[in-house]
Amino acid sequence: MDYELIERAREAQQRAYAPYSHFPVGAALRTEDGAIVVGVNVENASYPLGCCAERVAVYSAVAQGFRRFVRIAVVGPGPGLITPCGGCRQVLREFGDMDVLMADAQGTSEPKIMRLTDLLPFGFGKGDLNGL
Ligand code: THU
Repeated sequence: MDYELIERAREAQQRAYAPYSHFPVGAALRTEDGAIVVGVNVENASYPLGCCAERVAVYSAVAQGFRRFVRIAVVGPGPGLITPCGGCRQVLREFGDMDVLMADAQGTSEPKIMRLTDLLPFGFGKGDLNGL
């Protein structure tokens, strides 16, 4: 279990900007070469413009030159574990399969790991555009 990654997601969660939902989320991506890139949810007064923590992590990582990821850790505020939303699963899938680590903020329950392709079976990808 990549506890360092989970810890970085927990630290990031403190910086989430969630004044509307009061549901702070932290995410941390582990790149193939061992770097960590974090993300937090960033909400907006124009509600639909808010962005999930996982997507912020992916977009930030790509901007920093990373495109190959081995796993992502996601930490929600409650005692229960949260999974990436459908939109984030699709954004993650663009960059290949990876482990998704789900952990709570307090560290009371054991983190859970799932494969992205199990969370998003039959996802849409580059190859599907070839049918044009
Ligand atoms: N959110 C995330 O950042 N990641 C998830 O996996 C689920 C939901 C955010 C979006 C919104 O800012 C808040 O949590 C409530 O839905």
